[in-house]
Amino acid sequence: MAESINRGNLKKIYEGKAKILYEFSGEEDKKDLLLTYFKDDATAFNGQKKGTIIKKGEYNNAISASLFKFLKNKGINNHFIEKISEREMLTYHLKMLPIEFIVRNIAAGSLAKKMGVEEGVKFLSPVIEMCFKSDELGDPMINKSYLKAFDLCDPADASKAEKIALEINEILSKFFDDNNIIVVDFKLEFGLYKNEVMLADEITPDTMRLWDKQTMEKVDKDRFRRDLGKVEEAYQRIVDITSQC
Ligand code: TMP
Repeated sequence: MAESINRGNLKKIYEGKAKILYEFSGEEDKKDLLLTYFKDDATAFNGQKKGTIIKKGEYNNAISASLFKFLKNKGINNHFIEKISEREMLTYHLKMLPIEFIVRNIAAGSLAKKMGVEEGVKFLSPVIEMCFKSDELGDPMINKSYLKAFDLCDPADASKAEKIALEINEILSKFFDDNNIIVVDFKLEFGLYKNEVMLADEITPDTMRLWDKQTMEKVDKDRFRRDLGKVEEAYQRIVDITSQC
């Protein structure tokens, strides 16, 4: 597929904090496809902290591609089609649900603060949260009653997404555990493709918290958020692990 891409037809349809999305303007056979370009830009705290993680675009493209392929093999359908360059992948073009689904196994980040628990406390069972995707509002947490009330999406689709998110948690927790890493929490986004609820967006150290099982050292974007240093090394470690999956 990579060789059949005519870059002259790429039309930017969205630029976010970490990725740029392009569609294939005027190409009938690619009307259901998107090209995602992963950037090195890094932001935190809803864009208040800005920086660059050298080669993050390459790391995150590689990690997402590996994890999407791995999940597909485990029966989790997702938008990934093919990695086409160091920083680019080809995906299906989904109608995105305007919701972020966050799955948590261990207290960290905003939940540790909100519930007044020490970071590192393991929950008795996974926590799942829904947040309305809005930078202006700081992605507020919502519940299912908001979905219909604000016409955000069909609540049945959100329920399907939640179920898939919990399955993904089991699959990724096992995979990373086998590789000496604890999956603390992560964020997923879903969309509709031909009426099917399908995993989309990215799965990377930007969107997951990963801790070393022995040392509890952070191997994710918290190293950038909290100025812990060795950010690139952390991303490279996850590239190495996921390239084996
Ligand atoms: P939080 O503890 O800051 O709410 O983050 C929970 C998880 O979600 C963490 O793995 C990072 C991820 N996340 C994103 O991917 N995007 C975001 O905008 C935020 C706030 C968190």
